[in-house]
Amino acid sequence: MRKYLEKLPEEIKGLIKIIRRVASMNKMPAYLVGGFVRDLILGVKNLDLDIVVEGSGIIFSEHLSRALKARLIRHKRFGTATVTVKPHIKIDIATARKESYPQAAALPVVTAGVLKEDLLRRDFTINAMAVSIFPGNFGSLVDLFGGEGDLRRRRVRVLHDLSFIDDPTRILRAIRFEQRYNFSIEPATLKLLKEAVRVKMLERVEPQRIRDDLVLALKEQRSLKNIRRIQALAGFDFIRRGLRPSKKDYSFMRSIEREITWFRRAYSRRRALDGWLMYFMGLIDSLGFKEAGGACKKFAFRRGETKRILSFKKIKKNFVAQLNKKRLSPSRIFSLLEPLSYEAILLLKAKYATPNLQRHIEDFFEIYNGMRIYVSGHDLGGMGLSPGPGYKKIFTRVLNAKLNGQVKTKKQELSLIRKLIGAC
Ligand code: CTP
Repeated sequence: MRKYLEKLPEEIKGLIKIIRRVASMNKMPAYLVGGFVRDLILGVKNLDLDIVVEGSGIIFSEHLSRALKARLIRHKRFGTATVTVKPHIKIDIATARKESYPQAAALPVVTAGVLKEDLLRRDFTINAMAVSIFPGNFGSLVDLFGGEGDLRRRRVRVLHDLSFIDDPTRILRAIRFEQRYNFSIEPATLKLLKEAVRVKMLERVEPQRIRDDLVLALKEQRSLKNIRRIQALAGFDFIRRGLRPSKKDYSFMRSIEREITWFRRAYSRRRALDGWLMYFMGLIDSLGFKEAGGACKKFAFRRGETKRILSFKKIKKNFVAQLNKKRLSPSRIFSLLEPLSYEAILLLKAKYATPNLQRHIEDFFEIYNGMRIYVSGHDLGGMGLSPGPGYKKIFTRVLNAKLNGQVKTKKQELSLIRKLIGAC
């Protein structure tokens, strides 16, 4: 594995060096495991390091966070911890319990029972490999279930027959890895997956656990491929019994895909878009307001997520008809769209692809949404106005005038305000 480790970006190589030093100094055998090892062999970038430590993961994480001067979060109940090195680089540390410790300075036995037990509990062979980062056998691969061979054959295979029953979220995970890497689900595994679906394991598991993997599927680069495959292999009864996205829903989701791409290309520096939420809306487009609310509750979505989903569901025909008008003043477009989330606005654009509505929404993002006025509360104070709800009214009037091109400079804004005050 050393040749793979050598190819890692310098930043990650440096981190592994430090982890290795901490492991050695504290005589705690440590291994890179799971998705990081899979992607290491595949040559795919992965900035989430998963480490299993023989002994105490918590103590190890304390040493490591000190060495890296990085933030540490401990989950004592599970014997796990997360060290966040940079916002985009984190190290998850887990404990592989062991009965006895090797003698001081003794080399760890690579396939120590404890590590084997940890790997045995994992989902697929491709995710159940480990690479030692302990000095004596640094870089050696622990592949007890033929994961490397499965990577070469490009297939997703479970470790044992009860895998999907033990953890039904793996049904969605198998599909996710299959689609992400263009692999196939190995025939016996596919049979087990279908059997687990047949006995409705996805509906039996706690919805919040399924939610996390559904969200991950919708966050994948090719979300739509994932959605189609989930429908083919597992269906969407786990969201709501009888939910079967139709051709029309898929066409909506294809438009959603286009709009997300358009927005991310054009406005990458604006606020981040929750694309997954938009695909979810596409999936449940056939559900009414109440049913959609039920799905949000079932999956215990965050308040902000539920709010965005339901606000889109609440949009009435009349609202869309307004946006479809040929002539709309910029301030009117602004007042219609500004209260909505970016996700809801783009969903409108995807769903009602009429030229007028498209143009108004594009103008909103391109011009109106970024428009700011020059005057501030300080200016209003200087004009003898005391702070209060009146300020907001004045700012709105000035912004509307600016959107409609009636004022441009600060001088013009101030003179408008004077007129407004005079009229009161
Ligand atoms: N795992 C598992 N069963 C699950 C979830 C996770 O066995 N239901 C194990 C797998 O070994 C996996 C590791 O935990 O590799 C880490 O899980 P996670 O971070 O969810 O997945 P990754 O494999 O890292 O995938 P991704 O690249 O999508 O982050």
